[in-house]
Amino acid sequence: MSHIIAPSILSADFGNLNHDIEMINDSEAGWFHVDVMDGVFVPNISFGFPVMKPLKNKANKPLDVHLMIVHPERYIENFQQAGADILTVHIEASVHLHRTLNEIRKHGMKAGVALNPHTPVNLIFDVLSEIDLVCLMSVNPGFGGQSFIEGTYQKIQKLKEEILKQNQKTLIEIDGGVALNNYRKLVDCGADVLVAGNTVFSSANPKQTISDLLN
Ligand code: DX5
Ligand code: ZN
Repeated sequence: MSHIIAPSILSADFGNLNHDIEMINDSEAGWFHVDVMDGVFVPNISFGFPVMKPLKNKANKPLDVHLMIVHPERYIENFQQAGADILTVHIEASVHLHRTLNEIRKHGMKAGVALNPHTPVNLIFDVLSEIDLVCLMSVNPGFGGQSFIEGTYQKIQKLKEEILKQNQKTLIEIDGGVALNNYRKLVDCGADVLVAGNTVFSSANPKQTISDLLN
């Protein structure tokens, strides 16, 4: 098994969240991907702490929390208390990224940085040693079910090359439009973690689809 699948809760059925949590618990998924949106950084509002806490109680895998919010540094402690294992902030929303990454690690979480499709990967090369996970957005953040942006492949290759050059352990996560027709190429280019919302939750057999994305 070469990579991790992180189903995105954003596409789950919130009227029956327990059912979808159990499905992920019983599946070959490695993490839960948790998308927090504030309606300011992105043109959509998702959910916050009241949804995360019961999720944490029931999930038997790490919570990979993707903050699409302005001033993410204000909420590091709150997300730690809500059960985040990996906390990812957007570079575009982080004026003092180095400080924020260190704060996340100080709170015992893995530190992630997300990059919008227009943001070049070389902006993080000087702080790679502080980053556990780089989340490359392969759609414009805000909504599930969008089409994959093809330019992502080149970004993965460039970032992977630099990670290897610097001898770092930073993981590359791809978020948005991951599907059965592109996951293989993403992994071949160097992706370590694939987020999948629509592909998993709109399929007739989500558990099987998670397994298909792995093999
Ligand atoms: C988009 C979110 C994604 C989203 C992915 O803003 O960050 O995690 O849920 O959904 P799909 O896989 O449907 O593109
Ligand atoms: Zn996400």
